[in-house]
Amino acid sequence: MQTMHLLQEAQQARQAAYAPYSKFQVGAALLTKDGKIFHGCNVENASYGLCNCAERSAFFSAIASGYRPHQFQELAVIADTAEPTSTCGPCRQVILEFAGAELSVLLGNLQGKTLRTTAFALLPGAF
Ligand code: THU
Repeated sequence: MQTMHLLQEAQQARQAAYAPYSKFQVGAALLTKDGKIFHGCNVENASYGLCNCAERSAFFSAIASGYRPHQFQELAVIADTAEPTSTCGPCRQVILEFAGAELSVLLGNLQGKTLRTTAFALLPGAF
């Protein structure tokens, strides 16, 4: 799987974002170890606490399709930010639990800037 391909998948996922409140659209693409890709986007609600991030949407979709923790090899996330987008604290916890510390994470923006990191680097000392 080419690095940029997974980010393009995340960009495609972003098009489904439902973000009428923040107007901040995020897309994620999650690659499983057996080569399947799950899309995730942020989904908002008027009760703001119920909003779901793109990263968690991608993981929950994969889990709901029968994938289990540690069956994932890479996550790409994209948003319209000046620097490669970041990922929030709660998502970092979910990413770590479902994918393990070694997961490769590729963050990007719409201008083509990317940053490669890992689940461990995003959340050292996790619960
Ligand atoms: N959001 C994500 O989807 N992923 C992140 O890592 C950070 C934030 C979403 C949540 C909300 O719908 C919007 O971006 C603004 O915070």
